[in-house]
Amino acid sequence: MLRFRRNDLYIERVKLSDIAKRYGASIYIYSKNQLVKNFESYKRALVLRDGLICFACKTNSNGTILKLLAKLGAGADTTSGGEIYRCLKAGFNPSRIVYAGVGKTAEEIKYALKNKILMFNVESFEELDAIDKIAGKLKVRANISFRINPHVDPDTHSHIVTGKKGTKFGIPYEDAIKAYLIAKQKKNIVIVGIHSHIGSQILDIAPFKLAAQKIKKIIDSLEKNGIKLEYINCGGGLGIEYKRDQKAPSPKQIMSEIFGVFDKNKKFIFEPGRSIIGNAGHLLARVLYRKVSGGKSFLITDAGMNDLIRPALYEAYHEITPVKKTNAKKVKTDVVGPICESGDFMGRDRMLPVIEQGDYILITCAGAYGASMSSQYNSRPLLPEVLVDGNKAVLIRKRATYEDLLLNEI
Ligand code: LLP
Repeated sequence: MLRFRRNDLYIERVKLSDIAKRYGASIYIYSKNQLVKNFESYKRALVLRDGLICFACKTNSNGTILKLLAKLGAGADTTSGGEIYRCLKAGFNPSRIVYAGVGKTAEEIKYALKNKILMFNVESFEELDAIDKIAGKLKVRANISFRINPHVDPDTHSHIVTGKKGTKFGIPYEDAIKAYLIAKQKKNIVIVGIHSHIGSQILDIAPFKLAAQKIKKIIDSLEKNGIKLEYINCGGGLGIEYKRDQKAPSPKQIMSEIFGVFDKNKKFIFEPGRSIIGNAGHLLARVLYRKVSGGKSFLITDAGMNDLIRPALYEAYHEITPVKKTNAKKVKTDVVGPICESGDFMGRDRMLPVIEQGDYILITCAGAYGASMSSQYNSRPLLPEVLVDGNKAVLIRKRATYEDLLLNEI
């Protein structure tokens, strides 16, 4: 949904520089139609099966985005009490909310039980005990799946591998049957399914299929032990094309490989995040200064690692493009932010035309894990967010103020 018309870059039918003029920059901008298109492609792929597409709301937790997805029929994959709260506020039916995470607190478990979420994805034996006890006290029964670590290594950045042996996630593969047999004895636990999530930004179909095959083996042994599961939750993880030469499989390709492994009568849950909102959102940044130092050209923008931490944290690549076409000569440039750290960069060694002070650049595909991972580091107020629909741009989060920085301080 990004396109040059004459010399200006547009998102849908809105000129990006107009958004900057109206709301200021730096600013996060989302395309509603790209978001809807991404979600619909998941929904279509699931059409012949029973199940849910649960948006992984850690990816982007803006209330307007969540509301939109809830209205389209999404469920939610949550990872904290705060995320459950946001999702309930945004109108998700609790019977469509699943809850994973290795460190659920007693308060969070209580909150989830009181709100009758669809299920917990349990990640340890001790967590199972805690849920059983708390459910007992509340006189309710808790629906659970176990998150199984299938010991599959997807080819992605080490920080976002979760399904590999030795990571903190899930119940180790070899303990899966034992976990279910223990859960079967618990008075306040109802076993409803199985879950696995092997990692994020995965561009290859093979690890998804391998994980599915390993999960199928567990399901078969469980059935021999008289334990029948209703739901198979295959997690999220499908990557997006950050670079032009990358090719991401479609939801349909991934899902049909997975469906091929299992029986037809199961209910499926998928938990996509990045592939729903990643390429629907971008960070528009203002160029403050330019300088040459140590033989290198720097473009200093108003957006820093506190606004988008992915390049600093994962050396992630986001394409950077000026929002005005120019014939100016291209120069190898480091695009950096104003934070006092050398890791504060948006892109390194990029061939960019000479961009004038006060002009804008777009850091693309920042809709996932962009705003949701931002912080106020260096006492920088959080950025505003805008949602574009056709020729309309609507503010969906105000720019935070200096007063906001002191909120809750005593
Ligand atoms: N389900 C579970 C249990 C997860 O932990 C995650 C992401 C997802 C689903 C969604 O995965 P996705 O479809 O978005 O790949 N901050 C990192 C990514 C962290 C992923 C955490 N878990 C980044 O910016 O690349």
